[in-house]
Amino acid sequence: MIRRSLGVCYYPEHWPEEQWADDARRIRETGLTYVRIGEFAWSRLEPKPGDLRFDWLDRAIETLGVAGLRIVLGTPTATPPRWMLTKHPDMLPVDREGRPRGFGSRRHYCFSHTGYRDEAARITRLIAERYGRHPHLAAWQTDNEYGCHDTTLSYSPAARTGFRRWLGERYGSVEALNAAWGNVFWSMEYGSFEEIDLPNLTVTEANPSHRLDFSRYSSDQVVAFNRRQVDIIRAYSDAPIAHNYMGKVVEFDHYRVGADLDIASWDSYPLGFLEDRVDEGDEWKRAFLRQGDPDFQAFHHDLYRAVGRGRWWVMEQQPGPVNWAPYNPAPLPGMVRLWSWEAFAHGAEAVCYFRWRQAPMAQEQMHAGLLRPDSADAPALEEVARVAREFGNGAEVAEAARAKVGLVFDYQSAWAWAAQPQGRGFDYFRLVFETYRGLRRAGLNVDILPPGTDDLAGYALTLAPGLLTFSPPLRKAIAAHDGLVVLGPRTGSRTENFAILPTLGPAIDGLDVRVAYVETLRPDAAMPLEGGGAFHIWREITEGAAPIVERTADAAASVRRQRNLIYLCGWPDGMAMARLLRGFAEEAGLPALTLPDGLRRRETEEEVFWFNYGAEAVALAEAAGDDSLPAHLAAADLHRQPKR
Ligand code: GAL
Repeated sequence: MIRRSLGVCYYPEHWPEEQWADDARRIRETGLTYVRIGEFAWSRLEPKPGDLRFDWLDRAIETLGVAGLRIVLGTPTATPPRWMLTKHPDMLPVDREGRPRGFGSRRHYCFSHTGYRDEAARITRLIAERYGRHPHLAAWQTDNEYGCHDTTLSYSPAARTGFRRWLGERYGSVEALNAAWGNVFWSMEYGSFEEIDLPNLTVTEANPSHRLDFSRYSSDQVVAFNRRQVDIIRAYSDAPIAHNYMGKVVEFDHYRVGADLDIASWDSYPLGFLEDRVDEGDEWKRAFLRQGDPDFQAFHHDLYRAVGRGRWWVMEQQPGPVNWAPYNPAPLPGMVRLWSWEAFAHGAEAVCYFRWRQAPMAQEQMHAGLLRPDSADAPALEEVARVAREFGNGAEVAEAARAKVGLVFDYQSAWAWAAQPQGRGFDYFRLVFETYRGLRRAGLNVDILPPGTDDLAGYALTLAPGLLTFSPPLRKAIAAHDGLVVLGPRTGSRTENFAILPTLGPAIDGLDVRVAYVETLRPDAAMPLEGGGAFHIWREITEGAAPIVERTADAAASVRRQRNLIYLCGWPDGMAMARLLRGFAEEAGLPALTLPDGLRRRETEEEVFWFNYGAEAVALAEAAGDDSLPAHLAAADLHRQPKR
């Protein structure tokens, strides 16, 4: 069982101390339990090097705790104070063009900088020592949004030094590295590790093997930075440790960071993401302008459930217009409630809103909170109070059960294909997400699976589009599995070091398919499929004995199949994706629906949830093919159907 709660992000350092008690009372009265604080407060905790001022934080924690709130305490390492730069002038991250990224906002540190790593460890230890056993402490958050503002990859001198050392450990000799990267090509061979630079500022594209290793190295630095904080906190505290990840950030391996933590959490901004991160056209964005993409949040809920090995939260939930997307509309009334419930339907333990009161100053003064800057209620407050009433804050529910559909998502594949996309529009996240959307459209629950998954038991349908290589455990699990497994396009087509396999891909036992060559397609030149829909972006011409199940309009194989292994020889567009996935699901014994764009379904142990992301009412009973459901579901509303 898990306990479901609500919370809010609060910044005591932004408000006069006299206001804290009243804020705490109102937060409590709204029905919230958690209050996340502290993650940007370093300049107030240590205004000068070594000048520690924890007294105000002691009082803030006391005031909030006495009011009945539980504290989620952030380490303040995403915002080192200005004096830190005087002390470590070379700690700034450096962009691809070689320019240092300066002070005056946040995340102005390079993960490779050992001096800054020590400073982050030092402040973490001071905070953990002081609050680790505090009775009001519920959980920790390390740093804030690793990778935000494109900060995972830094082309700094510190990164170059670290990368050379990392390569030395990985390859042992420079000859081995030259062979692994294929550096004979273009005379790129190195004589020593000291000669290797970072893969930016080359005349034309850098070697993809070089880029892939730099991505691996950079991801490892995030893991190490986080692990150092975790090790320190654990020495002083038994409270669970979380980090707040983001939407569509793929530059570091979240599974590896997550393995060191107790809880995964993420920051969900549906309207900002729709404008900013969803690969769909204007028509789609207009249709979901005030509701957000119907699948983007759900995908991340499922992803972070995997990253958290079952335990996950929404640490920041959008409550109204944000300040950072190209356009910042207000949500339709009802959407804050719907977003909250969608998270709980995917197994979230907590949803915390960002933020309590809108800030009147600085960068985010146009970002809504639950209160306006004048402390009057903002529109979301009543919706949040309603959610708290509806589920009884603190209610116990069953954990999310295993879905019948598994979808592999792998960070390394994202790095690899970004290094060599081969055609504009080939983006690994997009490929997996479009597959996910197709599955949601069919009304199916989905589990996201890490690439090292070693057990597919219970999955009637497993998909691994675009996976760079098969990990040994996954290879074994596929060989032992009798549920349907759908591979391709591009799955298993490279070695670890980013070279074409000698046998050509996908090289998986039991499936005699070889990709002879590929072509990438202009947006206006999709390749129609015999059965309806088309391949867009990417298609493959294949050979091998695996029978052809379906063909493209130019008579090449579009789907091949041997026993339970299916290979897609291209990237299906929306129509083809829906059709193919429906067919696979039905064969796997999973009843598949054809839901309208805005209607979505999610099943928990106890109930079936129906969510209408549309701006108009939808004919629910008809779309679901279930007369026991209400005829209509209003815009921005949800329906809960107890399971029989
Ligand atoms: C998040 C971040 C918060 C705040 C918020 C605004 O990315 O963690 O600190 O900036 O966005 O939407």
